[in-house]
Amino acid sequence: MSGAAVGVLALAAGQNVLDPHSPPEHRITMLGWIMFVGSTIGLSVVAFLLLLGYFRRRRDSLPFGGGEKHATGLVIGLGIGLPLIILSALFVYSNIFVIQSTAAPNPRTTSMTVKVIGHQFWWELRYPGTTVVTANELHIPTLTRVNIKGTTDDVIHSFWVPELNRKIDLVPGQVGSILFYANRAGEYRGKCAEFCGLQHAHMDVIVFAQPRAQFDAWLRRQKAPAQATGMPGEQVFMNNGCANCHQIRGTAARGLVGPDLTHLASRTTLAAGTMANTRPQLEDWVRDPQHAKPGNKMPQVQMSQQDFTSLIDYLEALK
Ligand code: CUA
Repeated sequence: MSGAAVGVLALAAGQNVLDPHSPPEHRITMLGWIMFVGSTIGLSVVAFLLLLGYFRRRRDSLPFGGGEKHATGLVIGLGIGLPLIILSALFVYSNIFVIQSTAAPNPRTTSMTVKVIGHQFWWELRYPGTTVVTANELHIPTLTRVNIKGTTDDVIHSFWVPELNRKIDLVPGQVGSILFYANRAGEYRGKCAEFCGLQHAHMDVIVFAQPRAQFDAWLRRQKAPAQATGMPGEQVFMNNGCANCHQIRGTAARGLVGPDLTHLASRTTLAAGTMANTRPQLEDWVRDPQHAKPGNKMPQVQMSQQDFTSLIDYLEALK
């Protein structure tokens, strides 16, 4: 698929590859524009020459006058020489300016690390040095060099936030690494960019770039254990198998298959960006997870209406 088509598709999904918000992405976008403008000029010149040849074909002389030798010179110059010069220049430019800035960062030059772990079909996010584990919503401080280290728990995924940097493939057994540096606060939407199964298209990540103080406050809240202990829904959660797959720090729930739910209610979306995190959506999701996202690993659990209500009350209290 051409770069333009990828760009249009990404734009439709709420991302804009032409709206960079970090130094590496500025370089990628600039290279994209140079290639787009250059190839447009090249295409126009070739089209013009073709038309010229077409309209002058019935005349006795060659399109540009002169003899065969002159024509051969033109073909060699414009057909071989010029492309060689342009491609060499692009090679040097992209190596000096683009590849360097999008390369895996040296950990000594970054001030924090976030681990991104791809799962079918969601993102696990860990903040090394803290107990913080969350899912699908990646918070980073603005104007800070963040080392994103990506791995996968199952198949190949690709982590891509187009407004911040290029994509990194998450290949089993390997660690991918990339620099995130947000120029200003905002929400940057990303996607899984490698087909990974039935719900590949519903595997979004949202990056929240926040001013340092706001980020620190968020991190402090996330470090705390769950605040809702003792609610009736907690027992429902433990008795119905939820705890086998999900972790809620500060309780007996230690499952590591699905997303950490310690601060579920602090997140804006459910099911990796598939739905807003509101009570009706949360009820729909828990009642029938396979309806919203067929093929995901969350099973449907049968329980009484009373248990269901207390369970949702409990999950909503996990702020
Ligand atoms: Cu994960 Cu596609």
